[in-house]
Amino acid sequence: MASKLTSLPNSLLPKNPNSHLLLPLKPNSSTATFANFATHNKPISIRCTAASTAPVSPIPATEDSEDRVFNFAAGPAILPANVLKKAQAELYNWRGSGMSVMEMSHRGKEFLSIIQKAEADLRALLNIPEDYAVLFLQGGATTQFAMIPLNLCKPDDPVDFVVTGSWGDKAFKESQKFCKPKVIWSGKSEKYTKIPSFDALEQSPDAKYLHICANETIHGVEFKDYPTPKNGILVADMSSNFCSKPVDVSKFGLIYAGAQKNVGPSGVTIVIIKKDLIGNAQETTPVMLDYKIHAENNSLYNTPPCFGIYMCGLVFEDLLAQGGLTEIERKNKKKAELLYSAIDKSNGFYRCPVEKSARSLMNVPFTLEKSDLEAEFIKEAAKEKLVQLKGHRSVGGMRASIYNAMPLAGVEKLVAFMKNFQARHA
Ligand SMILES: Cc1ncc(COP(=O)(O)O)c(C=O)c1O
Repeated sequence: MASKLTSLPNSLLPKNPNSHLLLPLKPNSSTATFANFATHNKPISIRCTAASTAPVSPIPATEDSEDRVFNFAAGPAILPANVLKKAQAELYNWRGSGMSVMEMSHRGKEFLSIIQKAEADLRALLNIPEDYAVLFLQGGATTQFAMIPLNLCKPDDPVDFVVTGSWGDKAFKESQKFCKPKVIWSGKSEKYTKIPSFDALEQSPDAKYLHICANETIHGVEFKDYPTPKNGILVADMSSNFCSKPVDVSKFGLIYAGAQKNVGPSGVTIVIIKKDLIGNAQETTPVMLDYKIHAENNSLYNTPPCFGIYMCGLVFEDLLAQGGLTEIERKNKKKAELLYSAIDKSNGFYRCPVEKSARSLMNVPFTLEKSDLEAEFIKEAAKEKLVQLKGHRSVGGMRASIYNAMPLAGVEKLVAFMKNFQARHA
């Protein structure tokens, strides 16, 4: 173990030599004891390799810093600080059960109460109608690319795709194995910077469903309204804008989302599906890919990602406590407006390629007019604890993901940094 640790770069080594002693070892320690312990001991800091103490300029100090950074990653992404602290306080002994959520039987009454509350809170947040099932699955949104056609189509069934970015394209390509999909609109020739006008869509008359990616995480393109399918149902990948604003679930046959952007850690995939669509899987569908199996077993057919579901539950609770999704959307709009306006008012120093009406509230891609400065921008930003700003490898440039959990202070600090960087490099 020791030799393994010494082979890590210095910056990744725990700064506290007694860090292995941070957990209370007494078997009967109560939650309160652990909470006290956690507050009185400085948390271990695992620093970003790029972080240094040299300030670039007068930029507001990180709020509630405790060695935390402002993490602009696209996913896994930032989680609310109060949720992390609650999970920390409950980690060792969940609400007097004498064990952590990671150690519980998924069939025991404790975990049942966790998953049931998570579902109830999500239903309340999104106002999910009774005739929709909520499933907590695994395999990421990528597994849904196959699971959806396997469950909603026969092999020869036509399906329509509106492709506004790389994720929609991936979903289309995977579905080719299980049905007969057609791309009825693609933004590829315009580098995925637009949402089409819905009137112009030539939908197949007998398509089983119309698939969209509600928010393209890489390209920063978001649907503000939704097309109405001519025949079948609307299916949406909401991985990167799930629970970022109110959504009329009744407009959709199926909504799916990987949790690791807005609502929890990776490992949980949420599916909201109209109940009458369940039970028609293709014959060869593996048991784990059949919605019917998961719906009949309340997402407990096999061992679910228990800790991830617990974390999602804490996030849902927090979103409700903040006033629900209308309030969350208000906060998200404020953050996004601040950032887009800084880009648009930079006299071309920064550019966002996405058409204004399609700009995402969650993922903000931008480039520098002087592209050779991009590496320096990312490096200097990291010194200010503004991390994970590099754009996706397929598009380059920068991307700031400003999910629900990104505080306004994080965006303010980024904008102040951008202005300062421009002043020095224009
Ligand atoms: C919009 C969107 N869809 C699908 C995926 C794939 O998700 P997963 O990695 O959970 O399979 C991602 C991942 O970033 C995404 O952003």
